[in-house]
Amino acid sequence: MTTQWYEGLKTGIEEIDIHHEGLFEKIHELVDAFEQGREIAPLRKQIIFFEGFLVSHFALEEVLMRKFAYPDYSSHYNEHIQLANNFSRVINLFEDGEMTPHLASVAVNYINNWMKSYIAHLNLADRHLTDFLKNRWQEKLP
Ligand SMILES: [Fe+2]
Ligand SMILES: [Fe+2]
Repeated sequence: MTTQWYEGLKTGIEEIDIHHEGLFEKIHELVDAFEQGREIAPLRKQIIFFEGFLVSHFALEEVLMRKFAYPDYSSHYNEHIQLANNFSRVINLFEDGEMTPHLASVAVNYINNWMKSYIAHLNLADRHLTDFLKNRWQEKLP
């Protein structure tokens, strides 16, 4: 796995950084599960939990965007939808049949690629949002 969490990914908003770091941890656990040759049923469960975590993280950012009238809400929101949909497609790779080492490596490859798009979102769209939020919060200080 090439995508490790590092300090440079922090945005400076603790609540968001905790989520981001948690997402990395969960993705690593999922990749480990594939590499350890787990069966489809527990893998599917782990994927569904990750989707829930991902969607609740996106929801936090969306609430903040609406609350502070973020001007790029719709493009950021669309990226969230795209990322969530793309992640969900991992399950289509092994809809039927049983898990094989080949299928596991295809899935890990898919997840690694998804992670790259997620990190790109984090570094651009999320950073843009968190810079905006930090400015707004500063303005409100006496
Ligand atoms: Fe985001
Ligand atoms: Fe985020």
